[in-house]
Amino acid sequence: MNRVFIKTYGCQMNERDSEQVASSLRDRGYSVVDNEFDADVVLLNTCSVRDQAEQKAIGKAGYLSKRKRENPNFVLGVMGCMAQNRGEELIDRLPDLDLLVGTQKFHRVPDHLDHLIRSANGQGPRPSTLVDLDEEADSQNTIRDHIGKKNQVSAFVSIMQGCNMNCAFCIVPKTRGSERSRPIEHIIEEVEELAANGVKEITFLGQIVTSYGRREFPVVDGKSPFVQLLEKTNDVPGIERIRFTSPHPRGFKQDLVEAYRDLPKLCEYVHLPLQAGCDKTLRAMNRPYTKNRYSEIVNSLRAVVPDMYFSTDIIVGFPGETEEDFSESAAFFADIGFDMAYIFKYSIRTGTPAEVMPDQVPQEEKERRNQVLLEILSRGSLQRNERLIGTTQEVLVEGPAKRGDAYTGKTRGFRNAIFEADERLVGQLVELKIDRVTASSLYGELVLAGVDTF
Ligand code: SAH
Ligand code: F3S
Repeated sequence: MNRVFIKTYGCQMNERDSEQVASSLRDRGYSVVDNEFDADVVLLNTCSVRDQAEQKAIGKAGYLSKRKRENPNFVLGVMGCMAQNRGEELIDRLPDLDLLVGTQKFHRVPDHLDHLIRSANGQGPRPSTLVDLDEEADSQNTIRDHIGKKNQVSAFVSIMQGCNMNCAFCIVPKTRGSERSRPIEHIIEEVEELAANGVKEITFLGQIVTSYGRREFPVVDGKSPFVQLLEKTNDVPGIERIRFTSPHPRGFKQDLVEAYRDLPKLCEYVHLPLQAGCDKTLRAMNRPYTKNRYSEIVNSLRAVVPDMYFSTDIIVGFPGETEEDFSESAAFFADIGFDMAYIFKYSIRTGTPAEVMPDQVPQEEKERRNQVLLEILSRGSLQRNERLIGTTQEVLVEGPAKRGDAYTGKTRGFRNAIFEADERLVGQLVELKIDRVTASSLYGELVLAGVDTF
């Protein structure tokens, strides 16, 4: 009765939360399995950002409910954003749910499972769905343990929870609550521990990392708490690369630009959500910057690191986005020259200001706009990759590729690289001479100056 399978939907933050749940369940004597059919307990960690993500998880839960009817001891739980967003209404849809856990209660999962399993064993009354969706002070400090996978090269570290912005389309402030940050010292302790276990690359996670510690910790020497955190991380021996996701253009100030100049471990890749490249749409979205300001940030970063790589999130078909607005947005998108982008078709979220805005854009039109941006992106990425042919790039070797006997890794600019290597190079920084590229990957050969590995 103690084999648990966790399925995760959505963003890296959700992956990180699932890892925390897995780690705390292991500490409690559960075994975390990687196949749902071997499990006595299935937990779905859900996403609410778009309707499609919610529908997928609801479909899966419905399917798993059937298993419950065959085996009454089987335990089914829904955790995370959709649990928080829909609350007890979900139980009407999914009456067989045993457990509903919100985004501030992941650390309570072992207690809840213990309780459910005790009662399933006839040691207590069969409970109705166990619901735990409250806010909890300090929940940001509960996401801190790692599973310690073999040969782990790269790790996510959650530095804050919540978001205080009110982007008109976004459900996250409702599902994740208001901004709460972990102390710098706690985060650095976690990073040091990861480094001691061989991790080389840290990615800091938060809904709006540029707001990290804004209310809790002081500015020192003109540097925001977030930049102070980056500086301290840069000093941790063993860590070779630092990344983060996501900053907000509003909080992207000169101190952060200068961090790219001054901190050698901070990789020259930034994911900076744009959402729209048209001032009218940005205003309607309640995004407090203009495309001009966005360009200024991009240019100031390129001024300190000419080879900077840019990634973004952009939404097509926001209510009221006319053909003209979209063309302006697409032209700006092309102008910046993104190396990577997540392009989203606007999805109505109940309870957000955009839900009731007039002039919703038809689905086919969203599809078309999506295609336009995808084409711009793939042309741009291919050109950018082509410029890398003949150069030598530093690659952090992650492990065997999915197919064939090649290995994969990432450049500092977060380009995917594929090459012949050897198990012993996993976790190492190697030099790769690029000889062939596609829009998504670089292919090349290791430059093994003086290294005798084969
Ligand atoms: N600040 C967070 C954003 C989380 S949501 C972060 O950057 O990590 C991730 C992305 O989903 C957003 O940047 C936005 O582009 C997209 N998104 C959010 N709500 C959406 C909606 N209602 N429809 C379509 N895309 C949406
Ligand atoms: Fe959502 Fe905007 Fe915050 S996209 S997570 S409300 S910055």
